[in-house]
Amino acid sequence: MRVSQEIKNLIPYKPGKPIAETQREFGLSRVIKLASNENPLGPSLKALEALRCHLSDLHRYPDPGGFELSQKISKVWGVNKNYIALGNGSNEIIDLLIRIFCEPGEKIATAEKAFLAYPICAQAARVKTMTVPLLPNYKMDLVALADLVLQDPQIRLVFLPNPNNPTGTYIQRKEVDAFLKKVGTRPDLLIVFDEAYNEFVRASDYASGQEWLDQYPSVVVMRTFSKVYGLAGLRLGVMLAHPEVIDFYHRVRNPFNTNELAQVAATAAIDDTEYLRASQDVVWEGLDQIYKGLNDLGLDYLESQANFVLFDTQRDAAQVYNHLLRQGLVLRPVENYGLPRHLRWTVGLKEENALILKALQEALIKVPPLKKKPLNESLEKS
Ligand SMILES: Cc1ncc(COP(=O)(O)O)c(C=O)c1O
Repeated sequence: MRVSQEIKNLIPYKPGKPIAETQREFGLSRVIKLASNENPLGPSLKALEALRCHLSDLHRYPDPGGFELSQKISKVWGVNKNYIALGNGSNEIIDLLIRIFCEPGEKIATAEKAFLAYPICAQAARVKTMTVPLLPNYKMDLVALADLVLQDPQIRLVFLPNPNNPTGTYIQRKEVDAFLKKVGTRPDLLIVFDEAYNEFVRASDYASGQEWLDQYPSVVVMRTFSKVYGLAGLRLGVMLAHPEVIDFYHRVRNPFNTNELAQVAATAAIDDTEYLRASQDVVWEGLDQIYKGLNDLGLDYLESQANFVLFDTQRDAAQVYNHLLRQGLVLRPVENYGLPRHLRWTVGLKEENALILKALQEALIKVPPLKKKPLNESLEKS
């Protein structure tokens, strides 16, 4: 079959192992999946109620512009309506931005160990990905990234996951500010802040890219309803950007890219402040529980500003992962990020976290530790 070399070489995104698949493979009735950074509380009851009221409209096409949801986002997030567009998850927005703003052979830039959807979508569009190494504390090096961008006029998009997946690290306000001062006015460059985990950040020196939307027309912000809003299964992402970017996006996107149920559920979820607060609380309390547990086990981890923790098993992580999997406990291997000793743990309910800690304690006895830490593999706490 005739297909480009980039497509032939493409390694698809590997999602967390689904619950039903784990049940089938291991003959288990109960599986706890803490592998895809989903909301452990389940969906908002207000979203469920809104969905029930709309089921009889399913023979209709959805509103192609998502008018009501965009109105709601505009009001609640304080963004001008002309600056808002919707996507089939933020993953679709990543894909479309690359297709719209990069010619084949041109480039995107990001950091090593940044969210893998960027290089995968780029490769599918025959676009190259340039990366800069992380700092020793696993934070993104925005100084090196600005230098890279300044040296390479073929870079069209910069992706800044803030906080990043899988590290959970974040970029400080002053770093963003300095970066934008250096490259924010380049007319042929967009700077995309991927803020999928924005609502979980506790660091006081964090700032959303939204703060710079007015000042720099090159700034794009992506958010999602998959995490704190608990609607990963419905697929709803949001882009905030200058109206010119929004206009190009609307030209290229599928006319019905976000479905009616996703729009309706998101419109209800955004108002469910009690649910949002509970979702933040369960993550913040869970993070503290996990940190304590990992400290007790003597395992290093990165302090996270998101709803997951990256930790060092000090072993072949695949063996630890499999030990947990056989008991129906699913974490996320990250060897595809070049981290064969680490696992990513999505914060679950208190009792779910406790079960993982117990199983982890057993795994550490069964799986032999690696003798020597490979260089470049030590995780320092940020
Ligand atoms: C950093 C980051 N961006 C974007 C996404 C995609 O989210 P969605 O397509 O569900 O909106 C994820 C999902 O895990 C993520 O971790």
